Amino acid sequence: MQPDRVLAPFGRRMAPITAREQFGPYVVLRCEDPGGPRPQAGQFYMLQAARRWGGGDGERPFLPRAFSVLRAPPHTDDLHFLVEDVGPGTRRLCELQPRDALLLLGPLGVGFRRPAVGRRAILVGGGVGIAPLAIWQDELATILHDQPSASPLALLGFRDHDHARGSAILSDPLFATDDGSSGHHGFVTELLADQLALEGAVEVYACGPPGMLETVRALCEAHDVPAQLALESGMACGFGACFGCVVATRHGYVRLCVDGPVLDAAELEQVA
Ligand SMILES: Cc1cc2nc3c(=O)[nH]c(=O)nc-3n(C[C@H](O)[C@H](O)[C@H](O)COP(=O)(O)OP(=O)(O)OC[C@H]3O[C@@H](n4cnc5c(N)ncnc54)[C@H](O)[C@@H]3O)c2cc1C
Ligand code: FES
Repeated sequence: MQPDRVLAPFGRRMAPITAREQFGPYVVLRCEDPGGPRPQAGQFYMLQAARRWGGGDGERPFLPRAFSVLRAPPHTDDLHFLVEDVGPGTRRLCELQPRDALLLLGPLGVGFRRPAVGRRAILVGGGVGIAPLAIWQDELATILHDQPSASPLALLGFRDHDHARGSAILSDPLFATDDGSSGHHGFVTELLADQLALEGAVEVYACGPPGMLETVRALCEAHDVPAQLALESGMACGFGACFGCVVATRHGYVRLCVDGPVLDAAELEQVA
């Protein structure tokens, strides 16, 4: 069966940047994409700056880079992205200002599916992995507006107080920092373990570094709770052509850009 997905129009589109906000080390870029469809939560885009892309040290960044959609407010052409400067591509994107533009391709991949009836969503994000959970929180709030008891719980984890400024991007999260400088002192997965001990009828949605996702997978397996994990791998094309993004599942290798980035945790032996 073909997965439910919003298909990207062919070709890259120019998307003018309309706003830039900073949350500690994270940059939120807002742009206008009148030519594109509204994405699903968990889908991603291949992004590059419209000008000055490449030509740095070793000609990098050469290829576009993959980014989850952070928000796509309904009835607008707006797309929001969350970027953390970790290398030449993300650094160039973090430099962009209103009146600059992105070249984007997307939406790509398969996003999150709704929780089964009677299961409450728990969103678990680590660092920049909070991005796809913001749009999912927005969508779940709309879908479940008449069921306040089913409203999703967001649990977020950050390195330190400065990174924890990113917690303001989601509504009413509980959060943890590795160094205890704000929120719970420890890992976000400790907050999840506490919650799973209290509540069984839940479905977990997670995105973050591999170690965090592996702990989420193992905890959910131990509690027999379904989980959908938004994974990352290096992506050169984003649409299935280069096979650079394969990950091992119980049923063989899959291309994360077309079969993911959201995979059922039950499909994975472990998150590598
Ligand atoms: C589906 C998907 C969604 C993503 N969403 C976001 C997002 O919302 N916000 C965001 O800031 N980043 C996101 N990323 C990661 C982002 O694509 C990488 O950080 C970026 O490609 C790094 O490029 P660079 O040129 O800045 O650094 P590089 O020099 O290419 O990499 C810098 C460091 O990051 C590591 N790295 C590079 N790419 C990845 C990757 N894909 N996964 C894990 N580690 C990587 C490298 O090993 C290196 O240590 C996403 C990745 C994927 C696959
Ligand atoms: S990124 Fe090229 S096949 Fe997935």
